[in-house]
Amino acid sequence: MTTATTGEAEGSGRGPRGWREAAQEALYGPDGFYRGPGPGPAGHFRTSVHASPLFAGAVARLLCRVDEALGRPEVLDFVDMAAGRGELVTGVLAALPTDVAARVHAYAVELADPPDGLDPRVDWRLVLPPERVTGLLFANEWLDNVPVDVAEVDPAGVPRRVLVRRDGTEELGEPVTGADAGWLARWWPLGAEEGLRAEIGLPRDRAWASAVGTLARGLAVAVDYAHTATARPPFGTLTAFREGRETTPVPDGSCDLTAHVALDACAAACALPGTRLLPQRDALRALGISGARPPLSLASTDPAGYVRALADAGQAAELTAPGGLGDFGWLAQPVGIADAGDLFVDVADDEEQ
Ligand SMILES: C[S@@+](CC[C@H](N)C(=O)[O-])C[C@H]1O[C@@H](n2cnc3c(N)ncnc32)[C@H](O)[C@@H]1O
Repeated sequence: MTTATTGEAEGSGRGPRGWREAAQEALYGPDGFYRGPGPGPAGHFRTSVHASPLFAGAVARLLCRVDEALGRPEVLDFVDMAAGRGELVTGVLAALPTDVAARVHAYAVELADPPDGLDPRVDWRLVLPPERVTGLLFANEWLDNVPVDVAEVDPAGVPRRVLVRRDGTEELGEPVTGADAGWLARWWPLGAEEGLRAEIGLPRDRAWASAVGTLARGLAVAVDYAHTATARPPFGTLTAFREGRETTPVPDGSCDLTAHVALDACAAACALPGTRLLPQRDALRALGISGARPPLSLASTDPAGYVRALADAGQAAELTAPGGLGDFGWLAQPVGIADAGDLFVDVADDEEQ
């Protein structure tokens, strides 16, 4: 719960500021959480990319399906948007069949510098994604790190912008107006009850639309912690991570600041026919990750293969777990190709029939 408003100027640099501005500086400013050298995001939390190489294998399979849908272009682009230390793009290149890998132009788009020892095939772009891409743009856990403002309902039932100091203490600012108020009314209407909160997702809608706009033809996929209009969390989801632990959000550069993404709003920002929004467990199953345990008989015929398959099953279970990574949302938007649903057909199901 926040305290009452003060007379201090919003955004003055000394006083409290909206969460969007505060988080922008804390994450991406000169001394920001994401700017320094070191292990990058992997040092503080575990994304699907870090959880298992199976994830990069599934994305490689998706890239092959996009390749087919595009009619096998001479150059097939793969863009790892918000690439961290390039772990996903490196894993995708390693998992691709040789004939496809030979045609791939692999990009990593990041605010941070490339890591030492990066695969020389990766074209590292600082901040700006390439234009006129033909292929797959994949953004894993990017949008939750695009800073947003927070609104909270005051005692009179009015949604106000939440202001925050560098030590994390909050107070209420001016009522939310303009485009932000329009976004709240459309995507996250707040009731009149004091203390209800929402994160204003407009900057994410714009960031996503701009990334999708770089595709000439192909598929854009955003994967993130998500919620949709039917089940918004009443007090928001703003939180923080430091060295593997969830902690109180403080915009001082010491921790990651994140909030779940309204992926339905991001989807509407592009309004592309054939868009699909599905849970990670369904997306990965359609891409060949089942989590099924290997048959016990394999243990006697191929003991090493059995152990490998057992390890894979454990990792697949983590990637698809209810209440965990399996609940993440996959927003898939096709540009100039048919329905994204055609790319998430479970081949195993077809073979079983
Ligand atoms: C949670 S990490 C995800 C890293 C990686 N995609 C993964 O799944 O392991 C978010 C990353 O997004 C990057 N990022 C945030 N905004 C960005 C932007 N506008 N352009 C490029 N990278 C951005 C951050 O620097 C950070 O490395």
